[in-house]
Amino acid sequence: MYNKERKTVKSILESTTTNYSTVVMGWVRTFRNTQFIALNDGSTNDNLQVVIPLGSVDDATLRRITTGACIKASGEVVASVGKGQSVELAAASIEILGDSDAEKYPLQPKKHSLEFLREIAHLRFRTNTFASVFRIRHSLSFAIHKFFYDNGFVYMHTPIITASDAEGAGEMFRVTTLPLDGSAVGEDGLINFKEDFFGRSTNLTVSGQLEGELAATALGNIYTFGPTFRAENSNTTRHLAEFWMIEPEMAFYDLEDNMNLAEEFIRYIIKFVMDNNSKDLAFLAQRLADEDKQKPEAERSFPLLEKLEFVINNNFERVTYTEAIEILRNCSYNKKKKFRYLIDEWGVDLQSEHERYLVEKHFKKPVIITNYPKAIKSFYMRQNDDGKTVAAMDILAPGIGEIVGGSQREERLNKLTSRMKELNIPADEMDWYLDTRRFGTCVHAGFGLGFERMVQFVTGMGNIRDVIPFPRYPKSCMY
Ligand code: 4AD
Ligand code: MG
Repeated sequence: MYNKERKTVKSILESTTTNYSTVVMGWVRTFRNTQFIALNDGSTNDNLQVVIPLGSVDDATLRRITTGACIKASGEVVASVGKGQSVELAAASIEILGDSDAEKYPLQPKKHSLEFLREIAHLRFRTNTFASVFRIRHSLSFAIHKFFYDNGFVYMHTPIITASDAEGAGEMFRVTTLPLDGSAVGEDGLINFKEDFFGRSTNLTVSGQLEGELAATALGNIYTFGPTFRAENSNTTRHLAEFWMIEPEMAFYDLEDNMNLAEEFIRYIIKFVMDNNSKDLAFLAQRLADEDKQKPEAERSFPLLEKLEFVINNNFERVTYTEAIEILRNCSYNKKKKFRYLIDEWGVDLQSEHERYLVEKHFKKPVIITNYPKAIKSFYMRQNDDGKTVAAMDILAPGIGEIVGGSQREERLNKLTSRMKELNIPADEMDWYLDTRRFGTCVHAGFGLGFERMVQFVTGMGNIRDVIPFPRYPKSCMY
């Protein structure tokens, strides 16, 4: 490591050797009896006990060892006689690197609510819960790249500023350098985008899929992993205005290949975290169990580790939209009017209450729903022979709802252009996309995994705002 003399708390606690000199640097969690420091450096949730022999550190320095202060401790790693740890650091010297006024420090050594910590997101990394969440988020990112690398997929960087609306849902943030004082409006009353930075109207991407398709129909298998933006006014525990998405796109894959890949991929990344972040997972599982104790039985979640174990060991349930609607229409929740939106007709979009019923009450496992009505899905999905449905697939996860959205793509030029016409999507602006269908078109498919929803699933965190470092949502953009 760069800093040769320093060891991490994790490496000291994991090592079986003792009686060697070392240096640690970190932040004081607590300081007891002017003798015992609980020191944390973010490498693990476990603190290193630093013991100050009586009289070895001057009083002025001792007074500056306060909660939140950053210190450097040098000394010898020895077997601990106290309870709770097998080794500790017998300090020979303490250097204060950064003082912390204990009275003003917002993170007192007590339990804070997640809501309070969200208000001070710049400091919440210093709590065990968030340190665990972000170490797992990191591990999941790495697992995603490893899975695709090992399977021969090419990581493709699709643009963040685009001139198209991939989903056709119109939920885009505009990108512009035009003045906001009204002077950008031309004589016809319309904004003159010719004067704008790119000479046309542009926005932040809602999905890298369309560009991903261009790459897949040349390189074979590709994936994207980047930020995406949605200006939808959704104030829920599952929506962000800025979130990260993983979008694999594969030439020569049909819908079933697509589902098989998605299942294997999800199982792989969960297993990776279970193998490599067991301590963080155990910590979060306990946190969730404690939180659940405060709740009525019906609202409690499935124990985290058992849930993950179950998902990696069982196939997902696969049903068509039509089958799902039949289940929902005939279920007791629908009959007793317990749903906010009752299901009576084929064709309606599923609300999250319906998705959660299917996953949590009916099947009790992740579910893949296929072949949705074309009217409620995007223009690029492959049209089925029934004329009513498209080769779509959504994966629904317990406690989360939709975690993946994907489909086989419409590779037939005439079908694609006629669907675009029906939906008033201007074909001339999408000429580049249609070229893949004009020249050497092929069967292909792909999906998008919402990264934060995946992190929620693995960590058991109930609110999506707590699994991304700096959440953006309606009326909030701090930092
Ligand atoms: O279902 P969506 O909109 O699908 C697409 O964007 C396709 N282009 C994907 C593809 O086929 N390549 O979004 C995909 C996933 C959702 O299933 C959900 O997990 C997540 O992205 N997602 C969000 N996550 C957080 N906040 C939001 N506002 C989200 N909107 C979608
Ligand atoms: Mg979707």
